[in-house]
Amino acid sequence: MTANTEDMVGRESLDDIEGILAVSNTDVDEVLHAVSSEYDTIFTWDYEKGSRPKLNRLYEKAKTSMWNAATDLPWETEVDQEKLIAEQQMMAGPPLHTLVDLSGSPLAAWGEKEWTQLGIESQNWTLSQFLHGEQGALVCTAKVVESVPWIDAKYYGSTQVMDEARHVEFFARYLDEKLSGHYPINAHLRLLLDDIIADSRWDLTFLGMQIMVEGLALAAFGFIHALTKEPLLKQGLRYIMSDEARHVAFGVLALQDFYRELSAAEIRDRQEFAFEAAVRMRDRFLQQEVWDRMGVSPKDVLPLTLAAPDRQAFQVMLFSKIVPNLKKLGLLDAGDGWLRQKFTELGAIQFENWADTEEEYAAFQLAEGEIAS
Ligand SMILES: [Fe+2]
Ligand SMILES: [Fe+2]
Repeated sequence: MTANTEDMVGRESLDDIEGILAVSNTDVDEVLHAVSSEYDTIFTWDYEKGSRPKLNRLYEKAKTSMWNAATDLPWETEVDQEKLIAEQQMMAGPPLHTLVDLSGSPLAAWGEKEWTQLGIESQNWTLSQFLHGEQGALVCTAKVVESVPWIDAKYYGSTQVMDEARHVEFFARYLDEKLSGHYPINAHLRLLLDDIIADSRWDLTFLGMQIMVEGLALAAFGFIHALTKEPLLKQGLRYIMSDEARHVAFGVLALQDFYRELSAAEIRDRQEFAFEAAVRMRDRFLQQEVWDRMGVSPKDVLPLTLAAPDRQAFQVMLFSKIVPNLKKLGLLDAGDGWLRQKFTELGAIQFENWADTEEEYAAFQLAEGEIAS
């Protein structure tokens, strides 16, 4: 028997706000978080380099695309966070109070000061979640290097471990030096990372991280990169996106052949895993912790943010890289097309014919001389 929405994400309706809020981070002072995982570490004695030529090309490309987060970025830049927020507001659409009637809500009395503070908190939150997500990628890729059976994939994966370390380094330092506060990991994101790292099957770690989490990151970084004028953030995101595009392409290349060999039941498992990941990522973007910190109950305001049309459009755009890649992997239409139905319900099916990342990753690569040093 296959799972229904409730079995998978703990609630029947996708927009059930109480259900979404029931998942929250109760130990915000936690410093270490352990996840148990049982999987085989695979040695291969087949050292034939290039037997998977596309993976080999990606590996060679990665070796010459390394940048240094400490020395290749303009860290001397002074960042004006309020200015940055004005740019970000363009990204997330006009402020809520210009879109939705707030009378009778806790936000009705808010003035300029509160809306600006909301922007600041929201930005600290967003970059904090990127930071935690990047650490998730670092840890997952290390696991992939151990558990993937092909030498070309182990080689490539090792370059990704280094890439992710740079990304963690960048966001941690940016938050510390340029913004005004960290947030702990969002509970929906943590559940997702836990699922991805705990699964004993290597391809699910791939699917969860390389296709879902990184696909979303590529889209989200793309938005911010396009809209921000702050030179440090813009350059950092430019470098990071050039790496992330290779990472997503790695996921597509590694899984494509593998999924052709799986049974219908095994494919259905992968479809359900992808859908569950999509819902968790959508839930996290409700930023429940930001409302808490602003002193208003998320339960009172989330119905308002969900109702704002531009915000929905922004959230849907986050799936613009994921859907074409799932299609390329054959997961969208496998079996009875269950996953196509689910992405239709999420309102994201319109991206299915956009370029997949294996096709377009080269367009993200840094030009010669683009690394500063
Ligand atoms: Fe990354
Ligand atoms: Fe990545």
